[in-house]
Amino acid sequence: MTSPIKPPDGNWWDQPVNRRESIWLGLGVGWSLILFGWMSAWTRVGDQNPIGETYRVDSEEYREKMDAYKEAATETEDGLVPPGTDVYINAMRFQWDGAPVVLEAGTEYDIHLSSMDVQHGFSLRPEEALSKQINLQVLPGYEWVVPMTFDEPGTYHIICNEFCGQGHRTMHGTIVVEE
Ligand code: CUA
Repeated sequence: MTSPIKPPDGNWWDQPVNRRESIWLGLGVGWSLILFGWMSAWTRVGDQNPIGETYRVDSEEYREKMDAYKEAATETEDGLVPPGTDVYINAMRFQWDGAPVVLEAGTEYDIHLSSMDVQHGFSLRPEEALSKQINLQVLPGYEWVVPMTFDEPGTYHIICNEFCGQGHRTMHGTIVVEE
């Protein structure tokens, strides 16, 4: 069989590297080192890093905290109004228990997140700019306490962005932020 790809003539595998190729290789290595350094620096100085604290928590224990919170919260037409600045949200297939929740703009809240079953993705987006979002992973057995302040009143959507089963795409919740 003849190959459609013709081998180049001569001992092409044993030639000195072309100067221009060396320069491009050098630039490539240099650029990758800059990006590497940048990535490392950015995790130290960037504002985008996940914040807050995580704790190990038993699912049953979290469920109890959730029940106590719901008991203390005020039920309104728009959703639950938390009794203080602690807000509990519990992820489970396929809902965000505790949502909808009604919060005040400009107040710093501690948002507690955990899951009862599998890993879920907590993706929070303002309704008028859905491409703006923060994404957090919610894991069973862990409670993540994230401080959050909403500057702008409006509706914020909680969308699960980690595939968690058949009802994944219906796993929505909302946070209503009022003046
Ligand atoms: Cu929960 Cu996808």
